[in-house]
Amino acid sequence: MADKSYEIMQSDKIESDIEGYLRDQENKSYLRFITCGSVDDGKSTLIGRLLYDSKLIFEDQLKNLESDSKKMGTQGGEIDFALLVDGLAAEREQGITIDVAYRFFTTDKRKFIVADTPGHEQYTRNMATGASTADLAVILIDARKGILTQTRRHSFITSLLGVKHVVVAINKMDLAGYSKEIFDTIERDYRTFADDMGFSSIQCIPVSALKGDNITESGNNMGWYDGPTLLEYLECVDISTNEENAPFRMSVQWVNRPDLDFRGFSGTIVSGEIKPGDEIVALPSAQTSKIKSIVTYDGELETACKDQAVTLTLEDEIDVSRGDLISDRNNRPEITDQLQAHVIWMHDEPMLPGRPYLIKLANKTISGEITDLKYKIDVNSFDREAGKTLKLNEVGVCNISLNDKVVYEAYKTVPALGSFIVIDKMTNATLAAGMIDFGLRRATNVHWQAVDVDKSTRAQQKRQKPLVLWFTGLSASGKSTIANLVEKKLLALGKHTYLLDGDNVRHGLNRDLGFVDADRVENIRRVGEVAKLMVDAGLIVLTAFISPFRSERIMVRDMLEEHEFMEVFVDTPLEICEQRDPKGLYKKARSGEIKNFTGFDSPYEAPENAEIHLRTADISAEEAADQVIKAIEENYL
Ligand code: ADX
Repeated sequence: MADKSYEIMQSDKIESDIEGYLRDQENKSYLRFITCGSVDDGKSTLIGRLLYDSKLIFEDQLKNLESDSKKMGTQGGEIDFALLVDGLAAEREQGITIDVAYRFFTTDKRKFIVADTPGHEQYTRNMATGASTADLAVILIDARKGILTQTRRHSFITSLLGVKHVVVAINKMDLAGYSKEIFDTIERDYRTFADDMGFSSIQCIPVSALKGDNITESGNNMGWYDGPTLLEYLECVDISTNEENAPFRMSVQWVNRPDLDFRGFSGTIVSGEIKPGDEIVALPSAQTSKIKSIVTYDGELETACKDQAVTLTLEDEIDVSRGDLISDRNNRPEITDQLQAHVIWMHDEPMLPGRPYLIKLANKTISGEITDLKYKIDVNSFDREAGKTLKLNEVGVCNISLNDKVVYEAYKTVPALGSFIVIDKMTNATLAAGMIDFGLRRATNVHWQAVDVDKSTRAQQKRQKPLVLWFTGLSASGKSTIANLVEKKLLALGKHTYLLDGDNVRHGLNRDLGFVDADRVENIRRVGEVAKLMVDAGLIVLTAFISPFRSERIMVRDMLEEHEFMEVFVDTPLEICEQRDPKGLYKKARSGEIKNFTGFDSPYEAPENAEIHLRTADISAEEAADQVIKAIEENYL
């Protein structure tokens, strides 16, 4: 994004007193803000106007802007301020803003970083990215349209991410007759709606970004408004927060060990203050020490605080590695593997409870799953709604289970230790952003019970190695038939077995599940857990489930030890399955009587590296079963 960012400084002082100018610059406070609104609300025009009117644009940029405006012809030969701001060529062509663009500018009173966040429906992701570091949000509303679902969604995400100050810029007042009544109505509606969102301040300003009213100058059209212009307000709004007593926290980004004599831990302080002599604890190792020195490029510091990047050296040699947290010894964060969190879903692929995802929190990436969606939140009414999945742009409260313990804080206490992203294991795409509400105690008090008779004792007694033979394939591909034959052959070999069959399990344990994606994921998760228990009992388990998703088959594989899982792909072409149609289900699916039928309107993701690949078009069920026995005799039994 660096090429789209530019720093603009213009002040007479540069020529007369350059030293003084630089000193002023250093002492000025920073305001980070985001702008958000619907596609046509005029965000880019607003920022462009802000820069233009406050004389923050260089001469050559102005020339380009004038000639670009003529070329594009969007404003009938007049200057199109949006062109100044819309960096990406694609945006110009489509007329929408599609990425977060950060810009730096400064006035005599303050320095600003503005994230121009997109308003298009599917770009909630970028809006959340911009808002996570912002002090203030400028929410644009088209005076002619009033509050839209987007306005509500953006306000809600803004509040979820902990932004405390909101400016509601009621734009296009020129097209609304500069009407005080319209402004008053929208202001009243917004305040009612935002009442319990926890903002510290809300300022409504009537503006016309296009004509320049109330951006940097009041203009002559809205004499009835006696509040500040947008720039005046941004220059003076008090964003100081009361963080004096926040506990010290720093997550280690890097262990700095240039030679044997020096060992420092580098990172950015995310909360609190530190000085040499302070007692600390490293987590998760829980070893303690004292701060010896605080090292920076400019020498050692007496003290350091939030947002400073430092290297800490300690009095003792203790166990600290990348991703660990150094914390105040007497005020420690909690550690858990079970959480409740607010989750904003940002991907076309919906959230599926039970599916394994990667969760990235602070500097750690851990595998885990969203165990259940407690409720969804309607962004218009804030009502709680029941649901099984979260779709694009939806917000919900979820329970999350991680495969390893993490050190965390509630998002509202220390945002940097309370926020995480959810990543797809297969594609690496970012799927969601999350804010931790609290850790769940239930898991903390459940411990593994040590038992004397274990898996290997049980397996030894049966004279076998426990194993899961996981049959996957389309409905009517022959999974159950082949698995049944394999079980008989194993029995003849004196093995102890159990066959878990899709249709049968769906009559009992999984009677409550249907065939939508979320249910299929849960079906396989439960069967995986049961198979795991049976392996623990020393059995050879055969399972016959369509198990259409790669992700859950990998999940079951990961639950077991390396030689305990064999995937058997029963590869039968869809046409053949449909010809066989033993239960008449394909016929019903074709006529539309059954929905979400695998191979029709529900996908089947074929295995890529199955241990056994049975091409059933060319062999009989008997031959297929023999192939399975042969493969397990060679490798496993
Ligand atoms: S899975 O997708 O969740 O693994 P499972 O193997 O348990 O499916 O159940 C599949 C069986 O349920 C099929 O063999 C078929 O008899 C029956 N069935 C009923 N409706 C469907 C459907 N919509 N899609 C697939 N199978 C269905």
